[in-house]
This record gives sequence, C-alpha cells and structure tokens, in this order.
Amino acid sequence: MESEIIDLVIFGAGGHAREMHDLVKAINQQKPTFNFLGFLDQSTNLKTKDTDLILGDHTWLSGKPKVRVVIAIGNSASRLHVRNLIRSVCNNEFQTLIHPTAYIGENCKIGDGSMISAGTVLTCGVMLGEHVIVNVRTSLSHEALVEDFVTIAPNATICGAVSIATGADIGASATIIQLKKIGAWSIVGAGAVVIKDVVENVTVVGNPARQIAERKSGWQNN
Ligand SMILES: CC(C)(COP(=O)(O)OP(=O)(O)OC[C@H]1O[C@@H](n2cnc3c(N)ncnc32)[C@H](O)[C@@H]1OP(=O)(O)O)[C@@H](O)C(=O)NCCC(=O)NCCS
Repeated sequence: MESEIIDLVIFGAGGHAREMHDLVKAINQQKPTFNFLGFLDQSTNLKTKDTDLILGDHTWLSGKPKVRVVIAIGNSASRLHVRNLIRSVCNNEFQTLIHPTAYIGENCKIGDGSMISAGTVLTCGVMLGEHVIVNVRTSLSHEALVEDFVTIAPNATICGAVSIATGADIGASATIIQLKKIGAWSIVGAGAVVIKDVVENVTVVGNPARQIAERKSGWQNN
C-alpha cells in the first residue's frame, strides 16, 4: 500500500526554518513524503529569503486538523512559547524531521516535532524528547538523554549517558563528557568542554567550562 503524502507547514521564518525547508526537500528527493504548504510565523508580514509563502500565524492551523507542523525556531524558549500558542488553538500533530544522511542506531527514540540535521550520529539507546533540535554533524553517544525543547548547535559532541534537561542550549562544537548532567534552561557556550555537572538556568563557557551567568528560575515563561 502506498503511504499517504503528509501536508506540512514549517513554523518560523528565519535561518533554521529555511534549513528545515531544505531538509524536507532532501527527504522528498529520497521518497515523496511531504506536501509542503508554506511557512507560519507570528509576524505575518515577514518573508523568508527563499520563499514568500508565509501563510499566517498559529491561528491559520485551526480547522485544518490534518496539516502537520514543525516548529523550526532555533531558540528553545521561543519553541516552547509557539508550541503553547499552537496548542491554544488546535491539536494538530507535530512532525519529526530526520535528514536522510543522519545515522540513527538501535533503540534510539525521537520525540514528536524534533529535527535531526544532516550528518548527525545517534549511536544506540539515545532518547530525544519533543521539539528538540540536533544540528548538523552533532554526535550523541550511547544512552544520552535529551529532554524536550533542547537545542544542540552544529558539531557538538555529547558523550555516553549524558543527560540534558528541558530547554537547555548547547553551543556549536561544545563537548560534554560522559555521564555529566546539564540543568534545565542552561546554556553551554560554543566550544565549551563540560567536565562537571551544570546546574539549571546558568551559562557556562570555556575549557573546562565555568559559570559566567545565571538567570532567574522560570525566565523562559516570560
Ligand atoms: C555563551 C554565550 C551564550 C554567551 O553570550 P553572552 O551572554 O552574550 O556573553 P558575552 O558575549 O557578553 O561574553 C561574556 C564573557 O564570556 C566570554 N565568552 C562568551 N562566549 C564564550 C565562549 N563560547 N567561549 C569562551 N568564552 C566566551 C566572553 O569573552 C566574555 O568574557 P569577558 O567578560 O572576560 O570579556 C555565547 O557567547 C555563545 O557561545 N553562544 C553559542 C552560539 C552558538 O553556538 N550558536 C550556534 C548557532 S547555529
């Protein structure tokens, strides 16, 4: 039986949204999977650089229960905010996108609405929550656990059994050594090497990573 083509919209109009549009095309080249309808954004007068298909804001989805949506916004707190806006008007399914060149090993799980970019490697037993971004060439090793709304920038190295709590943001080329824990809504700077657990709501940078800032608990809801 032929599988049904999925009607898809991308929420966002910035760089990550364009990258996800590209990813959708790459999936379709391998196997026709999506009927891409256009982009949604809260600023409907915006135009993405490669298309003018801004269909509307989150309310565009109401009354269209079959259309799936992926929230392609690089900022973790903004993805949470948009997910809540969408849920305030509809229950449409969130689409997971996995680039054809990503390697996904045995016993890995990837939550709804998550995005896995080109050249990423998830070895085995890796668990990703919902609305997670794993950007290009990142590797996640055995039993790494990544909760909802985490953002991982290009080329990060997440070693075995690391856990990254909700909303944390891991910078480009950061390394987190095995078994370490990153607290919710914390930021790991580009190029940092994390060798100790990181608490919630802080920013760490450098090698070895050290704390340079702290935010109030719950900041992401404002
Ligand atoms: C960590 C980060 C969020 C800090 O941003 P910020 O809060 O605006 O901090 P500032 O730029 O004011 O820098 C504060 C201090 O930390 C240092 N610093 C900032 N980022 C650093 C990094 N990645 N590595 C080492 N030191 C860093 C600065 O040099 C500065 O030091 P100083 O006080 O001695 O002058 C940011 O620099 C960063 O690395 N972001 C990740 C970006 C990324 O990976 N993007 C991927 C997009 S796909």
